[in-house]
Amino acid sequence: MSADKAINITLKVWRQKNADAKGALETYKLDGVSTSSSFLEMMDQLNEQLINEGGSPVQFDHDCREGICGSCNMYINGQPHGPASLNTTCQLHMRSFKDGDTIYVEPWRAKAFPVIKDLVVDRSAFDRIQQAGGFVSVNTSGNTQDANAIPIEKDNADMAFDAATCIGCGACVAACKNASASLFVAAKVSQYALLPQGQVEAKDRVLNMVKQAQKEGFGPCSNTGACEVECPKGISLENIARMNREYLAASLSK
Ligand code: SF4
Ligand code: FES
Repeated sequence: MSADKAINITLKVWRQKNADAKGALETYKLDGVSTSSSFLEMMDQLNEQLINEGGSPVQFDHDCREGICGSCNMYINGQPHGPASLNTTCQLHMRSFKDGDTIYVEPWRAKAFPVIKDLVVDRSAFDRIQQAGGFVSVNTSGNTQDANAIPIEKDNADMAFDAATCIGCGACVAACKNASASLFVAAKVSQYALLPQGQVEAKDRVLNMVKQAQKEGFGPCSNTGACEVECPKGISLENIARMNREYLAASLSK
């Protein structure tokens, strides 16, 4: 027997024509939603309905639909990526909801992530933070050392890998009352700080990335831990502690 059911829901979706327009929540009834469908498939179903009715489809970002690209960002009932933990919106299924539910869908709310249209926000601030220091210089002379020739302690390799699973979705910012980007910046700093390849630019990296985050308008970290709770990749607060240590050491030795 299949566990698949069809449910009828009410959606309250943020609609905003462009960055300068005043947005508002619009109400839509959607019937016959399969509980096996993903949240984004449900949004596709809504858009088909809107198009068939002569309306304008809801704009939302998505790409991989498998939890990798970090683009399917929205608050669902006030929670970044919705009610399930350790998943992105595209990994959320409609079985998390009940027949008759009302679901609120809104874009990220942060000064540094301005709304472009409906649920789509501009996250290019993250790109600029990454460009400020989230890289390593590589010798391309032809004499490049094989990465495997440098032994790396297993614990450090594991922590660097965990930090590198950050997908840049921005849920940490969306969850934070200060709209701080600290968890994102800390993940990007940590993935290099823990590896020998990351040591060459280490001081400039942490100073420049933190400076760029402040310039973009992200707020300060006040250690509430909301970011860690809502992060779909389980990026640990320990990374923020590491970033702060790196920042202090770099500031004192500059
Ligand atoms: S730290 Fe987590 S919540 Fe923040 S951008 Fe990376 S994956 Fe998303
Ligand atoms: S669409 Fe890529 S993470 Fe959701």
